[in-house]
Amino acid sequence: MKWDIGIDLGTQSVRVAELNDGPVMSSSAALAFREGNRVPICAGDIAERLVGRTCQGVDVVYPLRDGVLENNLYAASLLQWIFKRSEGVKSRRRFGATITCAPFNRPVQKEALLTAAIDAGAAEALLVRSDAAAAVGAGLDLNGPEAKLLIDVGAGKMTCTLFTFGRVAAFGYVPYGLNRIDDRVRRILRSDFGYRVGKAQSEEIARTLGSAMPDKAPKDIIMHATGIAMKDRRPVNFDVETKPVLDACEDVVSELARLCCSVVDNAPEELSADLNDTGAVLTGGGAVLADLDRRLGQALGIPCRVADAPETCAIRGLWRIMDDPNAYAQMLQGQQSR
Ligand SMILES: Nc1ncnc2c1ncn2[C@@H]1O[C@H](COP(=O)(O)OP(=O)(O)OP(=O)(O)O)[C@@H](O)[C@H]1O
Ligand SMILES: [Mg+2]
Repeated sequence: MKWDIGIDLGTQSVRVAELNDGPVMSSSAALAFREGNRVPICAGDIAERLVGRTCQGVDVVYPLRDGVLENNLYAASLLQWIFKRSEGVKSRRRFGATITCAPFNRPVQKEALLTAAIDAGAAEALLVRSDAAAAVGAGLDLNGPEAKLLIDVGAGKMTCTLFTFGRVAAFGYVPYGLNRIDDRVRRILRSDFGYRVGKAQSEEIARTLGSAMPDKAPKDIIMHATGIAMKDRRPVNFDVETKPVLDACEDVVSELARLCCSVVDNAPEELSADLNDTGAVLTGGGAVLADLDRRLGQALGIPCRVADAPETCAIRGLWRIMDDPNAYAQMLQGQQSR
């Protein structure tokens, strides 16, 4: 089978690569539906812009929640939307699609994702481990003998995987990602300061003021934000200090550091020792959180670096795997044909 299109389906974003052209598209994984309707009104970045602005009877939804498939109809709709827009497959009757999938999806969820791809129009669908795709995209040689540690920090999940000889030697995950920081920021602003802010505003606050090393982060920065004052329900401009944002980051980052240490602690000694030379590589959109590489490097006691363009590693890696999936046989997660 020739794999014509690759899709890195994330909790928040979806990225697409075509066999001949490489990565061609990146957009939000959002879909907007009118109540009772199975065809979306819009999808991608336009649907994302409707979050918090929808009128009655319109819902903005995502196919995945916390890295796992939550709704196969939404997944099929999003995949169909992608297939219709992809030059390489839109006019073809038969094409093969590869899709990334977090390894902790249950077998029934993997089956449902494969079926969604077939329902959306693919003649054949193949699932690839999302962490393996990210590792290949970050330039790691998974089939080599020395151990490689890949830490993927996404919107809905954080994974830590130790690869060697084309196999997974140790793996762990946290079933939430950096979206949790935005949720915490929103909650703290509401409960401690009396302001309600939207999803986009809380994400901007977290990106601007967030850091994985609270002791090193500058404390005297203030960010201007807009929201609703709860006491009189009026729109207001107000200032946010770093402290509540750093607290929100700390909860999530300390959990990620614990996860990475436990994966390395549970790995065979020889492989853990390799990591002193090879170090750890960070991928995913959340890898650029300020000082995350330094914080994890300190926790693990090994060098830790952020991959180039970390948010696109998984789609660039999937594009390479699509070309020759058999070279990554242990990283494939299931296949289905029409
Ligand atoms: N500069 C930044 N600082 C902190 N977080 C950031 C920054 N840029 C992006 N992020 C976070 O990265 C996350 C998006 O990462 P990514 O696109 O890899 O997720 P995803 O692939 O959709 O989700 P997942 O792989 O977890 O299913 C969001 O939570 C976003 O807030
Ligand atoms: Mg991802």
